[in-house]
Amino acid sequence: MNAAAAPVRKAVLPAAGFGTRFLPITKSVPKEMLPVGDKPVIHYVVAEAVAAGCTDILIIVSRDKSSIVDYFDRAPDLERRLRAAGKDELADEIVRIATQARFHFVRQPEMKGLGDAVLQARDHVGDEPFALLLADTIIVDSSGVPGQPAALDTLHAAYGETGASAVVIEHVPADRISRYGVVGGTERAPGRFTLERMVEKPAPAEAPAVRRLDGTVDPGGWAFAARYLFTPAVFAHLARTRPGKNNEIQLTDAMAALLAEEGFSGCRLPGERLDIGNPRGLFEANRRILSLDA
Ligand code: UTP
Repeated sequence: MNAAAAPVRKAVLPAAGFGTRFLPITKSVPKEMLPVGDKPVIHYVVAEAVAAGCTDILIIVSRDKSSIVDYFDRAPDLERRLRAAGKDELADEIVRIATQARFHFVRQPEMKGLGDAVLQARDHVGDEPFALLLADTIIVDSSGVPGQPAALDTLHAAYGETGASAVVIEHVPADRISRYGVVGGTERAPGRFTLERMVEKPAPAEAPAVRRLDGTVDPGGWAFAARYLFTPAVFAHLARTRPGKNNEIQLTDAMAALLAEEGFSGCRLPGERLDIGNPRGLFEANRRILSLDA
């Protein structure tokens, strides 16, 4: 495998979860459709995948998430009305949302966890590497701009070096470590890590360590940051994964098995993650992204 690995065409965006931290609004509005500025969260995630060269987007949905399907569909009546009113720019934007990639949707029948959501992509993805982007997290670049390809680009470069799956990781302080999937491993080049362990939501004392290039170990730990590049071998591991933490099929457990089979890279998050999983995170994302236009 070398740095000229074939481009990754397919992106998978799980968006089937209940979003309980946003109840009651998520009773009828999917978390991924909550607004950041004038666009839903998932708009920025799709834009990022498209910017990185993905041409095929599979969104994992569930019952009551048809507003996501509608958002990425054509709306001919609305388009005609906008053009008749001389609002061509707006009409073009509406068309572009639906035509920027080929969109596909599959339902997760029961919300058994993120690992089970990803397994629903198996038939569609087939035998090629794919990008996985959590649809409730916006990544912004070092200038605070969303929808940029840097995170997927760095995963692709790591995959080109090793032929193994890769995940974007970020440093998190000890008091937040037990919320995330956490990795242990060794920095092999600046910002590029060879992973050795993965643990879902560890207690701070049990969090695995990452050795930096200079031999030091950061306090706290390094956690998954919502962007992944998988070889198709992940599906066989997901199919074998039994319910783990919180009685859910944990993606982290399948990733640990994949690591043992073919190795796994970590790539330092270029930029910052805006986690929209809770109301405060949504507020902060709005503050950050709306201030770009100010
Ligand atoms: P979360 O772990 O944040 O779960 O999912 P959630 O259900 O959305 O929200 P809370 O924790 O109940 O508040 C991370 C991503 O994985 C998807 C979600 O839609 C979200 O984009 N997911 C999660 C699924 O697609 N299926 C699942 O069974 C669980």
